[in-house]
Amino acid sequence: MKLNTSIIRSIGAKIGTPFWLYEAAVIRQRIADIQFMTSAPNVQARFAMKACPATKVLREMAASGIWIDAVSGNEALRALHAGHAAGNNPPVVCFTADVFRDNALDVVLSNGLLPNIGSPGMIQQLKAAGYTGPVSLRVNPGFGHGHVNTCDTGGPSSKHGIWHGDLMATRADALAAGLKIVMLHAHIGSGPKHQELHDNLTRLALEFRELAPSFPDLQAVSLGGGIPHNYRERDAQIPVEPLRELFTTCQQRISAAAKRELRLEIEPGRYYVAPACTLVTTVHDVKKTTTNEKGAGATFAMVDAGFVDLVRPAMYGSYHQIEVFDGATGEPLHTEPEPIVVAGPLCESGDVFTRGGADEELQPRMLARPKVGEIVALRDAGAYGYAMSSNYNSIGRAPQVWVEEDGSCELISRRETLEDILKAETSERL
Ligand SMILES: Cc1ncc(COP(=O)(O)O)c(C=O)c1O
Repeated sequence: MKLNTSIIRSIGAKIGTPFWLYEAAVIRQRIADIQFMTSAPNVQARFAMKACPATKVLREMAASGIWIDAVSGNEALRALHAGHAAGNNPPVVCFTADVFRDNALDVVLSNGLLPNIGSPGMIQQLKAAGYTGPVSLRVNPGFGHGHVNTCDTGGPSSKHGIWHGDLMATRADALAAGLKIVMLHAHIGSGPKHQELHDNLTRLALEFRELAPSFPDLQAVSLGGGIPHNYRERDAQIPVEPLRELFTTCQQRISAAAKRELRLEIEPGRYYVAPACTLVTTVHDVKKTTTNEKGAGATFAMVDAGFVDLVRPAMYGSYHQIEVFDGATGEPLHTEPEPIVVAGPLCESGDVFTRGGADEELQPRMLARPKVGEIVALRDAGAYGYAMSSNYNSIGRAPQVWVEEDGSCELISRRETLEDILKAETSERL
């Protein structure tokens, strides 16, 4: 979708930059896609809220019948706060983790949430806490693919889930602890290609079909998330029809193997929100280095957002499309494109948005050379964007703005202040 630059300029004038701009219409279209993919009976979608936990987004999910996958006690509480139902019948909020940390166990127990456990020892931890409810087991099936290697969620190098060879021993532990196993789950990532996602999900569904008869209390299987978003060709059409067919067929086949109706779940995160948000920044300077014996010179556009805002390029070398606008007119710049490095304000040389390749080196982007005061928009920043932002350099998180379909704008989180940052500091004697 084309950015509405007059809205951007008017928000920038009121709250400054950087800020995050969410487009309601885009999120709603993505929700509609997922609703279509999961429209067969007994196929249920969740939202992996770690991708974008804003209350406004969680409410959209609740209103659309999308359930939640939460990965911390506080995430689960945020989902409940946004209106998602507590309890495990049905398990609208599922708690997935490999470690119970902080308030996680308490939140599961006091709200009756379904724990989806990713480590065998968690059975004993649940039992010791007095938990007697149902459980889901997150399996590492030994295969899978992340969008980058550090995001690989299936295979021997992945820390996630119960290794498939240990599944039956964990089943025995759960039974001995009196905990019914009502769901089998795996999140194997997707890889950037749809065919690979399709192949991996088909293989996973076959594994679950084999396993289903050994789990007499099973009510559901979850194929996890991982529906990719095409960051390079952001308008590329997503093949929703084959995914609908796949999920429908998987639900039918696994149910046939179990000899009763089972629920098939998916829990995408990025697909719902990635294209719905833009990180809006202002150019503060343009400067150059020149080529010498150490390497090539570059032109740097210095913007006011950094990896404290959007960490994906610095963390994984992720690609985000960049658009440059005239600060005064809001029109795209039409000067001859040249290689530009877009870099942020942080005291870290890795604070660069145009990185990539195997060594995550600088990858200057062909852009119209911006001038001071012009706007640089980092697109597709809605997934793992604000959610991963930090207070490094004590800068404070940037504000989030929601643009409704009629163009009206709402500030959904304000800019964090020094007082917010200092609030958690104490001098309590222990
Ligand atoms: C357990 C689990 N489910 C779902 C997801 C969502 O993945 P994606 O945002 O790629 O759809 C993740 C992502 O890390 C995950 O760990």
